[in-house]
Amino acid sequence: MRNTAKKAFALAVGIAATLAAFGGQAHSAPMPPDPGGVTPQVVGGTQAAKGEFPWMVRLSMGCGGAMYTEQLVLTAAHCVNSTGNNTSITATYGVADLQDTSAIKRTSSYVHRSPTYGTSTGGDWALIKLSSPITGASLLPIATTNAYNNGVFDVAGWGATREGGSQSRYLMKAKVDFIDDTTCKNADPYYRDLIFSAEICAGDLANGGVDTCQGDSGGPMFRRDSAGQWIQVGIVSHGNGCARPSNPGVYTEVSTFAAAIKAAADNLGGTPTPPGKTFENGTDVSIPDAGAAVYSNIAVSGLTGNAPSTLKVTVDIKHSWSGDLVIDLVAPDGSTYRLKNSSSSSTPNVNTTYTVNASSELANGTWRLKVQDVYSQDTGYIDIWKLTF
Ligand code: ARG
Repeated sequence: MRNTAKKAFALAVGIAATLAAFGGQAHSAPMPPDPGGVTPQVVGGTQAAKGEFPWMVRLSMGCGGAMYTEQLVLTAAHCVNSTGNNTSITATYGVADLQDTSAIKRTSSYVHRSPTYGTSTGGDWALIKLSSPITGASLLPIATTNAYNNGVFDVAGWGATREGGSQSRYLMKAKVDFIDDTTCKNADPYYRDLIFSAEICAGDLANGGVDTCQGDSGGPMFRRDSAGQWIQVGIVSHGNGCARPSNPGVYTEVSTFAAAIKAAADNLGGTPTPPGKTFENGTDVSIPDAGAAVYSNIAVSGLTGNAPSTLKVTVDIKHSWSGDLVIDLVAPDGSTYRLKNSSSSSTPNVNTTYTVNASSELANGTWRLKVQDVYSQDTGYIDIWKLTF
Protein backbone atom coordinates (compact mmCIF):
# COMPACT_ATOMS: atom_id res chain seq x y z
CA MET A 1 0.00 0.00 0.00
CA ARG A 2 1.13 3.50 -0.57
CA ASN A 3 -0.06 6.93 0.14
CA THR A 4 1.44 10.35 -0.07
CA ALA A 5 1.06 13.51 1.91
CA LYS A 6 -1.02 15.16 -0.76
CA LYS A 7 -3.57 12.45 -0.18
CA ALA A 8 -4.62 14.11 3.02
CA PHE A 9 -6.58 16.49 0.83
CA ALA A 10 -8.25 13.93 -1.37
CA LEU A 11 -11.89 13.46 -0.64
CA ALA A 12 -13.23 10.20 -1.90
CA VAL A 13 -10.45 7.71 -1.56
CA GLY A 14 -7.66 9.26 0.40
CA ILE A 15 -9.17 8.83 3.79
CA ALA A 16 -9.09 5.08 3.42
CA ALA A 17 -5.64 4.97 1.99
CA THR A 18 -2.72 3.56 3.84
CA LEU A 19 0.74 4.68 4.61
CA ALA A 20 4.09 3.66 5.90
CA ALA A 21 3.42 1.73 9.03
CA PHE A 22 6.70 -0.09 9.04
CA GLY A 23 8.78 1.30 6.25
CA GLY A 24 12.46 0.80 7.00
CA GLN A 25 13.07 4.20 5.50
CA ALA A 26 10.30 5.83 7.41
CA HIS A 27 11.42 8.85 9.37
CA SER A 28 9.17 7.86 12.26
CA ALA A 29 9.36 4.79 14.46
CA PRO A 30 7.38 1.70 13.39
CA MET A 31 3.73 2.05 14.20
CA PRO A 32 2.26 -0.26 16.82
CA PRO A 33 -0.38 -2.77 15.80
CA ASP A 34 -3.78 -1.21 15.30
CA PRO A 35 -6.28 -3.98 15.92
CA GLY A 36 -9.22 -1.70 15.34
CA GLY A 37 -7.96 -0.76 11.92
CA VAL A 38 -9.30 2.76 12.20
CA THR A 39 -6.57 4.80 13.83
CA PRO A 40 -5.17 7.26 11.31
CA GLN A 41 -1.68 6.31 10.27
CA VAL A 42 1.05 8.73 9.30
CA VAL A 43 -0.96 10.28 6.49
CA GLY A 44 -4.50 9.16 6.89
CA GLY A 45 -4.22 5.46 6.04
CA THR A 46 -5.34 2.41 7.96
CA GLN A 47 -3.98 -0.92 9.00
CA ALA A 48 -6.25 -3.89 8.51
CA ALA A 49 -7.39 -5.62 11.67
CA LYS A 50 -6.59 -9.26 12.30
CA GLY A 51 -9.42 -11.27 10.78
CA GLU A 52 -10.73 -8.39 8.70
CA PHE A 53 -9.62 -10.01 5.46
CA PRO A 54 -9.22 -13.55 6.77
CA TRP A 55 -8.31 -15.13 3.45
CA MET A 56 -5.20 -12.92 2.96
CA VAL A 57 -1.92 -14.76 2.59
CA ARG A 58 1.64 -13.46 2.62
CA LEU A 59 4.01 -15.43 0.41
CA SER A 60 7.70 -15.68 1.25
CA MET A 61 8.94 -14.52 -2.15
CA GLY A 62 7.43 -11.16 -1.25
CA CYS A 63 3.94 -11.38 -2.71
CA GLY A 64 0.38 -11.54 -1.50
CA GLY A 65 -2.30 -14.09 -2.24
CA ALA A 66 -5.79 -15.18 -1.28
CA MET A 67 -7.08 -18.56 -0.14
CA TYR A 68 -9.02 -20.08 -3.04
CA THR A 69 -9.48 -23.48 -1.46
CA GLU A 70 -8.15 -24.83 1.82
CA GLN A 71 -5.04 -25.98 -0.04
CA LEU A 72 -4.69 -23.49 -2.92
CA VAL A 73 -3.57 -19.87 -2.84
CA LEU A 74 -4.42 -17.64 -5.78
CA THR A 75 -1.59 -15.23 -6.59
CA ALA A 76 0.07 -13.59 -9.60
CA ALA A 77 1.97 -15.45 -12.32
CA HIS A 78 4.78 -12.91 -12.08
CA CYS A 79 5.29 -13.94 -8.44
CA VAL A 80 6.32 -17.47 -9.43
CA ASN A 81 8.83 -18.89 -11.89
CA SER A 82 7.16 -21.83 -13.56
CA THR A 83 4.66 -24.64 -13.29
CA GLY A 84 5.82 -27.70 -11.41
CA ASN A 85 6.84 -29.09 -8.04
CA ASN A 86 7.97 -26.31 -5.74
CA THR A 87 8.75 -26.57 -2.06
CA SER A 88 10.44 -23.18 -1.78
CA ILE A 89 7.50 -20.96 -0.87
CA THR A 90 6.14 -20.37 2.63
CA ALA A 91 2.56 -19.12 2.94
CA THR A 92 1.58 -17.24 6.09
CA TYR A 93 -2.12 -17.16 6.95
CA GLY A 94 -4.36 -15.93 9.73
CA VAL A 95 -2.55 -12.78 10.85
CA ALA A 96 -2.33 -9.09 10.05
CA ASP A 97 1.02 -8.71 11.86
CA LEU A 98 3.59 -10.95 10.20
CA GLN A 99 5.34 -11.35 13.56
CA ASP A 100 2.17 -12.55 15.29
CA THR A 101 3.07 -15.95 16.74
CA SER A 102 -0.43 -17.26 16.02
CA ALA A 103 0.37 -17.26 12.28
CA ILE A 104 -0.43 -20.45 10.41
CA LYS A 105 2.34 -21.39 7.99
CA ARG A 106 2.49 -23.88 5.16
CA THR A 107 5.17 -24.79 2.67
CA SER A 108 4.26 -25.03 -1.01
CA SER A 109 4.22 -28.35 -2.80
CA TYR A 110 3.32 -27.31 -6.34
CA VAL A 111 2.89 -24.21 -8.48
CA HIS A 112 0.57 -23.78 -11.45
CA ARG A 113 1.51 -20.70 -13.47
CA SER A 114 -1.05 -19.42 -15.96
CA PRO A 115 0.09 -20.68 -19.37
CA THR A 116 -1.27 -17.54 -21.05
CA TYR A 117 0.79 -15.14 -18.95
CA GLY A 118 3.21 -13.27 -21.17
CA THR A 119 1.16 -13.93 -24.30
CA SER A 120 -1.16 -11.42 -25.97
CA THR A 121 -4.04 -13.02 -24.03
CA GLY A 122 -2.54 -12.04 -20.71
CA GLY A 123 -3.39 -13.79 -17.47
CA ASP A 124 -1.22 -12.77 -14.53
CA TRP A 125 -2.42 -15.47 -12.17
CA ALA A 126 -1.04 -18.61 -10.53
CA LEU A 127 -2.16 -21.18 -7.99
CA ILE A 128 0.13 -22.36 -5.23
CA LYS A 129 -0.67 -25.71 -3.70
CA LEU A 130 0.16 -26.02 -0.02
CA SER A 131 1.79 -29.12 1.44
CA SER A 132 -1.37 -29.68 3.50
CA PRO A 133 -4.73 -27.90 3.71
CA ILE A 134 -5.44 -25.15 6.19
CA THR A 135 -8.56 -26.81 7.49
CA GLY A 136 -11.38 -24.38 8.05
CA ALA A 137 -9.55 -21.54 6.29
CA SER A 138 -11.61 -18.61 5.08
CA LEU A 139 -11.86 -18.62 1.32
CA LEU A 140 -12.30 -15.70 -1.06
CA PRO A 141 -14.59 -16.61 -3.98
CA ILE A 142 -13.61 -15.27 -7.39
CA ALA A 143 -15.90 -13.30 -9.70
CA THR A 144 -17.13 -15.47 -12.55
CA THR A 145 -18.81 -12.64 -14.47
CA ASN A 146 -17.75 -9.09 -15.25
CA ALA A 147 -20.73 -7.72 -13.30
CA TYR A 148 -18.47 -6.59 -10.46
CA ASN A 149 -15.83 -4.91 -12.61
CA ASN A 150 -16.94 -1.46 -11.53
CA GLY A 151 -17.29 0.76 -8.49
CA VAL A 152 -14.91 0.97 -5.57
CA PHE A 153 -12.60 -1.90 -4.73
CA ASP A 154 -10.69 -2.88 -1.63
CA VAL A 155 -7.04 -3.87 -1.77
CA ALA A 156 -4.78 -5.19 0.97
CA GLY A 157 -1.21 -6.26 1.31
CA TRP A 158 2.12 -6.19 3.09
CA GLY A 159 3.87 -4.44 0.21
CA ALA A 160 5.80 -1.20 0.10
CA THR A 161 4.08 1.74 1.72
CA ARG A 162 5.64 4.20 -0.72
CA GLU A 163 7.26 3.91 -4.11
CA GLY A 164 10.70 2.50 -3.48
CA GLY A 165 9.85 1.87 0.16
CA SER A 166 10.28 -1.28 2.19
CA GLN A 167 7.76 -3.97 2.99
CA SER A 168 5.18 -3.60 5.74
CA ARG A 169 5.08 -5.76 8.84
CA TYR A 170 1.36 -5.01 9.20
CA LEU A 171 -1.35 -5.72 6.66
CA MET A 172 -2.44 -2.45 5.05
CA LYS A 173 -5.68 -1.76 3.24
CA ALA A 174 -7.02 0.90 0.92
CA LYS A 175 -9.90 1.64 -1.41
CA VAL A 176 -9.34 2.23 -5.11
CA ASP A 177 -11.73 3.37 -7.83
CA PHE A 178 -12.43 1.37 -10.97
CA ILE A 179 -10.91 3.07 -14.04
CA ASP A 180 -12.25 2.03 -17.43
CA ASP A 181 -9.89 0.46 -19.96
CA THR A 182 -9.83 3.30 -22.45
CA THR A 183 -9.18 5.94 -19.81
CA CYS A 184 -6.43 3.79 -18.36
CA LYS A 185 -4.80 3.08 -21.69
CA ASN A 186 -4.66 6.81 -22.42
CA ALA A 187 -3.63 7.86 -18.93
CA ASP A 188 0.11 7.52 -19.56
CA PRO A 189 2.31 5.93 -22.25
CA TYR A 190 3.13 3.16 -19.74
CA TYR A 191 -0.41 1.82 -20.16
CA ARG A 192 -0.54 1.74 -23.98
CA ASP A 193 -0.30 -2.06 -24.08
CA LEU A 194 -3.13 -2.60 -21.60
CA ILE A 195 -4.94 -5.84 -22.42
CA PHE A 196 -8.58 -4.84 -22.11
CA SER A 197 -9.95 -8.34 -21.59
CA ALA A 198 -7.26 -9.41 -19.15
CA GLU A 199 -6.56 -6.35 -17.01
CA ILE A 200 -8.55 -3.93 -14.85
CA CYS A 201 -7.17 -0.57 -13.76
CA ALA A 202 -7.94 1.05 -10.42
CA GLY A 203 -6.69 3.93 -8.34
CA ASP A 204 -7.20 7.64 -7.95
CA LEU A 205 -6.56 8.83 -11.49
CA ALA A 206 -6.61 12.55 -10.82
CA ASN A 207 -4.68 12.70 -7.58
CA GLY A 208 -2.77 9.47 -7.22
CA GLY A 209 -1.77 8.84 -3.63
CA VAL A 210 -3.54 5.57 -3.12
CA ASP A 211 -2.36 2.39 -4.74
CA THR A 212 -0.89 -1.02 -4.30
CA CYS A 213 2.88 -1.23 -4.65
CA GLN A 214 5.83 -3.63 -4.87
CA GLY A 215 5.18 -6.62 -2.65
CA ASP A 216 1.41 -6.36 -2.89
CA SER A 217 1.52 -8.33 -6.13
CA GLY A 218 -0.54 -11.46 -6.16
CA GLY A 219 -2.85 -10.14 -3.49
CA PRO A 220 -6.55 -9.73 -4.16
CA MET A 221 -8.58 -6.73 -5.23
CA PHE A 222 -12.06 -7.37 -3.94
CA ARG A 223 -15.50 -5.89 -3.22
CA ARG A 224 -18.93 -6.97 -2.02
CA ASP A 225 -21.18 -8.87 -4.41
CA SER A 226 -24.94 -8.40 -4.75
CA ALA A 227 -25.48 -10.69 -1.76
CA GLY A 228 -23.07 -8.67 0.37
CA GLN A 229 -20.31 -11.27 0.28
CA TRP A 230 -16.67 -10.52 -0.51
CA ILE A 231 -15.72 -11.43 -4.05
CA GLN A 232 -12.32 -11.22 -5.75
CA VAL A 233 -12.29 -9.19 -8.95
CA GLY A 234 -8.56 -8.58 -9.40
CA ILE A 235 -5.01 -9.67 -8.62
CA VAL A 236 -2.34 -7.03 -8.01
CA SER A 237 -0.25 -7.10 -11.17
CA HIS A 238 1.71 -3.97 -12.10
CA GLY A 239 1.78 -0.21 -12.46
CA ASN A 240 4.06 2.69 -13.35
CA GLY A 241 5.68 3.41 -10.03
CA CYS A 242 3.18 3.55 -7.20
CA ALA A 243 0.35 5.98 -6.54
CA ARG A 244 1.43 8.54 -9.10
CA PRO A 245 -1.38 10.67 -10.53
CA SER A 246 -2.49 9.43 -13.97
CA ASN A 247 -0.76 6.10 -13.29
CA PRO A 248 -3.30 3.57 -11.97
CA GLY A 249 -2.63 0.14 -10.58
CA VAL A 250 -3.20 -2.69 -13.04
CA TYR A 251 -4.93 -5.83 -11.81
CA THR A 252 -5.56 -9.19 -13.43
CA GLU A 253 -9.19 -9.32 -14.56
CA VAL A 254 -10.16 -12.35 -12.52
CA SER A 255 -13.57 -12.95 -14.12
CA THR A 256 -11.90 -13.46 -17.52
CA PHE A 257 -9.80 -16.26 -16.08
CA ALA A 258 -12.31 -17.69 -13.62
CA ALA A 259 -12.99 -20.81 -15.65
CA ALA A 260 -9.28 -21.42 -16.23
CA ILE A 261 -8.53 -20.90 -12.54
CA LYS A 262 -11.28 -23.31 -11.50
CA ALA A 263 -10.15 -25.91 -14.06
CA ALA A 264 -6.57 -25.66 -12.83
CA ALA A 265 -7.73 -25.91 -9.23
CA ASP A 266 -9.81 -28.99 -9.99
CA ASN A 267 -6.74 -30.48 -11.60
CA LEU A 268 -4.67 -29.75 -8.52
CA GLY A 269 -7.19 -31.62 -6.42
CA GLY A 270 -8.80 -28.67 -4.78
CA THR A 271 -12.35 -27.67 -5.63
CA PRO A 272 -13.64 -24.24 -4.55
CA THR A 273 -16.16 -25.81 -2.24
CA PRO A 274 -14.39 -28.57 -0.33
CA PRO A 275 -16.56 -31.59 -0.99
CA GLY A 276 -18.16 -33.45 1.84
CA LYS A 277 -18.04 -30.63 4.37
CA THR A 278 -20.72 -31.29 6.97
CA PHE A 279 -22.42 -28.83 9.30
CA GLU A 280 -24.96 -29.88 11.92
CA ASN A 281 -27.28 -28.71 14.65
CA GLY A 282 -28.03 -31.23 17.38
CA THR A 283 -30.02 -28.98 19.69
CA ASP A 284 -33.48 -30.50 20.18
CA VAL A 285 -36.41 -28.39 19.02
CA SER A 286 -39.85 -29.57 20.07
CA ILE A 287 -42.58 -29.58 17.47
CA PRO A 288 -45.93 -28.37 18.81
CA ASP A 289 -48.99 -30.43 17.95
CA ALA A 290 -50.84 -29.00 14.92
CA GLY A 291 -49.02 -25.76 15.66
CA ALA A 292 -46.76 -23.17 14.11
CA ALA A 293 -43.67 -24.18 12.17
CA VAL A 294 -40.46 -24.46 14.19
CA TYR A 295 -36.93 -23.85 12.95
CA SER A 296 -33.44 -25.13 13.59
CA ASN A 297 -30.52 -23.09 12.18
CA ILE A 298 -27.15 -24.07 10.80
CA ALA A 299 -24.63 -21.29 10.12
CA VAL A 300 -22.38 -22.26 7.23
CA SER A 301 -19.06 -20.48 6.71
CA GLY A 302 -15.68 -21.13 5.19
CA LEU A 303 -17.08 -22.38 1.90
CA THR A 304 -16.94 -20.48 -1.34
CA GLY A 305 -19.29 -20.09 -4.24
CA ASN A 306 -22.64 -21.78 -4.47
CA ALA A 307 -24.01 -24.85 -2.77
CA PRO A 308 -23.84 -28.06 -4.80
CA SER A 309 -26.63 -29.53 -6.91
CA THR A 310 -26.37 -32.52 -4.58
CA LEU A 311 -26.68 -30.81 -1.20
CA LYS A 312 -27.42 -33.56 1.33
CA VAL A 313 -29.88 -32.74 4.09
CA THR A 314 -29.89 -35.40 6.78
CA VAL A 315 -32.92 -35.14 9.03
CA ASP A 316 -33.46 -37.02 12.29
CA ILE A 317 -36.84 -36.17 13.79
CA LYS A 318 -38.42 -38.17 16.60
CA HIS A 319 -42.19 -38.10 16.17
CA SER A 320 -44.95 -40.61 16.84
CA TRP A 321 -46.70 -40.08 13.49
CA SER A 322 -44.44 -38.95 10.60
CA GLY A 323 -47.40 -38.23 8.30
CA ASP A 324 -48.18 -35.17 10.44
CA LEU A 325 -44.97 -33.45 9.36
CA VAL A 326 -44.20 -30.97 6.60
CA ILE A 327 -40.46 -30.33 6.28
CA ASP A 328 -38.68 -27.62 4.30
CA LEU A 329 -35.09 -26.50 3.88
CA VAL A 330 -34.76 -22.70 3.88
CA ALA A 331 -31.65 -21.31 2.16
CA PRO A 332 -29.78 -18.23 3.51
CA ASP A 333 -31.65 -15.95 1.10
CA GLY A 334 -35.02 -17.36 2.21
CA SER A 335 -35.62 -19.68 -0.76
CA THR A 336 -37.55 -22.72 0.41
CA TYR A 337 -37.08 -26.32 -0.71
CA ARG A 338 -39.82 -28.79 0.22
CA LEU A 339 -38.28 -31.96 1.61
CA LYS A 340 -41.46 -33.73 2.72
CA ASN A 341 -45.20 -33.18 2.55
CA SER A 342 -47.74 -34.39 5.09
CA SER A 343 -49.33 -37.76 4.41
CA SER A 344 -51.43 -40.42 6.04
CA SER A 345 -48.36 -42.44 7.05
CA SER A 346 -48.49 -43.57 10.66
CA THR A 347 -44.84 -44.63 10.62
CA PRO A 348 -42.97 -42.92 13.47
CA ASN A 349 -39.89 -40.69 13.03
CA VAL A 350 -38.22 -39.17 10.04
CA ASN A 351 -34.68 -40.40 9.60
CA THR A 352 -33.76 -39.66 6.01
CA THR A 353 -31.17 -37.94 3.87
CA TYR A 354 -32.68 -35.73 1.18
CA THR A 355 -30.75 -34.49 -1.85
CA VAL A 356 -31.48 -30.90 -2.83
CA ASN A 357 -30.37 -29.08 -5.96
CA ALA A 358 -29.16 -25.95 -4.20
CA SER A 359 -26.80 -24.82 -6.97
CA SER A 360 -28.45 -21.41 -7.20
CA GLU A 361 -27.79 -20.73 -3.52
CA LEU A 362 -24.66 -19.31 -1.93
CA ALA A 363 -23.17 -21.95 0.34
CA ASN A 364 -22.26 -19.58 3.16
CA GLY A 365 -24.98 -18.20 5.40
CA THR A 366 -27.64 -19.41 7.76
CA TRP A 367 -29.63 -22.41 6.55
CA ARG A 368 -32.81 -23.39 8.39
CA LEU A 369 -34.79 -26.57 8.74
CA LYS A 370 -38.49 -25.70 8.95
CA VAL A 371 -40.78 -28.31 10.46
CA GLN A 372 -44.51 -28.08 10.98
CA ASP A 373 -46.93 -30.58 12.48
CA VAL A 374 -50.16 -30.07 10.56
CA TYR A 375 -52.46 -32.68 12.15
CA SER A 376 -53.55 -32.93 15.79
CA GLN A 377 -52.63 -35.58 18.36
CA ASP A 378 -49.02 -36.72 17.83
CA THR A 379 -45.93 -34.62 18.66
CA GLY A 380 -42.17 -34.92 18.63
CA TYR A 381 -38.91 -32.98 18.23
CA ILE A 382 -36.06 -32.29 15.85
CA ASP A 383 -33.27 -34.42 17.28
CA ILE A 384 -30.46 -33.48 14.90
CA TRP A 385 -30.03 -32.42 11.30
CA LYS A 386 -27.01 -31.97 9.03
CA LEU A 387 -26.02 -30.34 5.78
CA THR A 388 -23.32 -31.94 3.65
CA PHE A 389 -21.87 -29.77 0.86
N1 ARG B 1 4.51 -5.76 -9.65
C1 ARG B 1 4.43 -5.36 -8.29
C2 ARG B 1 4.83 -6.51 -7.37
O1 ARG B 1 5.44 -7.42 -7.84
C3 ARG B 1 3.12 -4.80 -7.95
C4 ARG B 1 2.98 -3.48 -8.53
C5 ARG B 1 1.69 -2.85 -8.32
N2 ARG B 1 1.90 -1.52 -8.67
C6 ARG B 1 0.97 -0.58 -8.65
N3 ARG B 1 1.32 0.62 -8.96
N4 ARG B 1 -0.25 -0.87 -8.32
O2 ARG B 1 4.67 -6.45 -6.18
